[in-house]
Amino acid sequence: MLVDLAWRIARPLLFSLDAERAHHLVLDTLDRWPRLSGALLRGLTPAPPANLQTTLGPLRVPSPLGLAAGLDKDGQAIAAWPALGFGFVEVGTVTPRPQAGNPAPRMFRLVPERGLINRMGFNNAGLPALAERIRALRASGNWPGVPVGANIGKNKDTPNDLAEDDYLANVAGLRGLVDWFTVNVSSPNTPGLRDLQEPERLGRLLRAIVQTASGAPVFLKLAPDLEPTALAEAVDVAMLAGCTGIIATNTTISRPGSSGRLGEAGGLSGAPLWPLAQERIGQVLRAVDGRGPVIGVGGITHPDQAEALLAMGCAGIQVYSGLIFEGPGLPLRILRQLARHKAQARLTGPAA
Ligand SMILES: Cc1cc2nc3c(=O)[nH]c(=O)nc-3n(C[C@H](O)[C@H](O)[C@H](O)COP(=O)(O)O)c2cc1C
Repeated sequence: MLVDLAWRIARPLLFSLDAERAHHLVLDTLDRWPRLSGALLRGLTPAPPANLQTTLGPLRVPSPLGLAAGLDKDGQAIAAWPALGFGFVEVGTVTPRPQAGNPAPRMFRLVPERGLINRMGFNNAGLPALAERIRALRASGNWPGVPVGANIGKNKDTPNDLAEDDYLANVAGLRGLVDWFTVNVSSPNTPGLRDLQEPERLGRLLRAIVQTASGAPVFLKLAPDLEPTALAEAVDVAMLAGCTGIIATNTTISRPGSSGRLGEAGGLSGAPLWPLAQERIGQVLRAVDGRGPVIGVGGITHPDQAEALLAMGCAGIQVYSGLIFEGPGLPLRILRQLARHKAQARLTGPAA
């Protein structure tokens, strides 16, 4: 694929830059020249297979593969992602007020391990800027034909006792503009945020969010560092509060294998997260027990892993770090394998 050739040329240049600089270079380019970069991406990337439409609860998606939160925090390139094959796009995490996040450097590549460690701390341009950007994109006629969701969080200086106000402000400000909300109480880089996963607090917060969302689907995103009992409890609380489904998992503060060698604090993602994420996703699927869709995310760098999560029962999957290490051709490679196996399964029929 041409997109892979372009990646082979671009990767050494991007990897010679600091990880966050490379990230901004790509996002700012897509943002500044949307038509040119969109046309280029579409020119380099063949159209995704057409037989992968599915649903994530009430959301109809052209494919089960989505862009995970955090890559396009401010919605700078919403229109570009479907050109790579993504069937749904999650922007954010957004907070009501803009915030700078933690001091840089705060994003680190573990190249041999194909992992990332980040402690960004919800750097984002804030709710009014995201809402304005989405309004402008919708008005321009370039709004993509795939569902777009907003991952919502609280500002760092908002105490947990007032966290609900931040989450509700995000929902009120983006209601009618996005197709779903993801409640982020699982990022490790905002002090105390994960305490919001405690069942009683979580129940109150989610009930208020579901009510304010007025019918828009609400997903809860969970951390892989929750032990199985706490994970199952959080799932129950979410489903009883009226959430549509669960997104599992966020990054981990644990350091499996050799991923601790950098010694940097923050959340680990990418290949080293895969074994833990897969285990936790399995536990989440069992806890949800068919009450709603589960979107699996964490360490997908190869089509086989995407397929494995779908075979386990996930309704959808998301990718972030895999895109950084395997390049922009990864989504299409995943979709082509899914389409091929789906077509083969149809030919051979269900197993006896
Ligand atoms: C640099 C970076 C920033 C991230 N920011 C967010 C975020 O703002 N909100 C969120 O819910 N998840 C965030 N994530 C987590 C991803 O959405 C995803 O859950 C996690 O990285 C595991 O998937 P992956 O291994 O495919 O990257 C971030 C991940 C990375 C690497």
